[in-house]
Amino acid sequence: MKELIEKLVSAYGPSGFEDAVREIIRPEVEAYADEIRVDALGNLIVRKQGDGSGRRVMVAAHMDEIGVMVTHVTREGFLRFTNIGGVFVHHLMGSRVQFADGTTGVVYGEKLEDRSKVHPLSKHYIDVGASSREDVPVAVGAAAAFVGPFEQQGELYIAKSLDDRIGCAIAIAALQRLEATPHDLYVVFSVQEEVGTRGAQAAANAIEPEIGLAIDVTGTGDTPGAAEMAVELGKGTAIKAKDRDMIAHAGLVQLMRQRAGEAGIPYQMEVLEPGSTDARSIQIAGAGSAAGAISVPCRYVHSQSEVVHAGDVENSVRLLVELLSRPIDL
Ligand code: CO
Ligand code: ZN
Repeated sequence: MKELIEKLVSAYGPSGFEDAVREIIRPEVEAYADEIRVDALGNLIVRKQGDGSGRRVMVAAHMDEIGVMVTHVTREGFLRFTNIGGVFVHHLMGSRVQFADGTTGVVYGEKLEDRSKVHPLSKHYIDVGASSREDVPVAVGAAAAFVGPFEQQGELYIAKSLDDRIGCAIAIAALQRLEATPHDLYVVFSVQEEVGTRGAQAAANAIEPEIGLAIDVTGTGDTPGAAEMAVELGKGTAIKAKDRDMIAHAGLVQLMRQRAGEAGIPYQMEVLEPGSTDARSIQIAGAGSAAGAISVPCRYVHSQSEVVHAGDVENSVRLLVELLSRPIDL
């Protein structure tokens, strides 16, 4: 799994530009699919046929990552940019970005009069080493992803884009381990989550699931001065009760806790105050569905050094397989 995670997090895939990630995932899941397709937005939809006794279930993990897009090139050859998704300005100074064509840029800010402050996004620029506008190899509208090498340290994975390539890895592993399912299962590797769960919304409108599950990261409350939150790294998979934009289906939450308990899978209850996941879109698409989420505790979300625990990842796979391999009566 480590090799797959490294491949996934190293791929380029800002929202709207997920092709490289999709091409890594497709060969991993092809052998386990009864049907596989890519919709107009770019969602990779893997269908596994049930025995007819179960429900129509959609599982979503998003392929996209946050990034930036060029808005303007100065005469001197520096790039101004806007955000793709939740880019925090205090992560920008000195970070690196990479464009689809491989061009690397250094992100920096204009001179700060007060070094205890942070500039807004608009006072940052990307330096690709050009000396004039004509010398810049990328154009307005080009998207770039942040750069952050993958490392394993003990039980921890450290990388950019673990949000949500770790969810993709979990969904892939669950498909590979799932021997049989009663459910008509659609595993959606979704696009454009970071700009408002757009891919999952379109996919859910087409699939019309009865049950919806997102596999995504969540924050933790276990670092110095962190916002109070009951989730800790390494203490198990997290079962979402609520986040900013959704309240998980109470019956589904109860069932997940029961399945985890029966299988001896360590879990924590998650209430995330900022942020949401694809589950919010699945819940309210079409006529609506019973939706919930399996979350992987993650420190420093949306930085170039996101951190997850291998044990939490494994427990998330186990819970997902437990859920999908048995009946879901709500
Ligand atoms: Co995110
Ligand atoms: Zn995410």
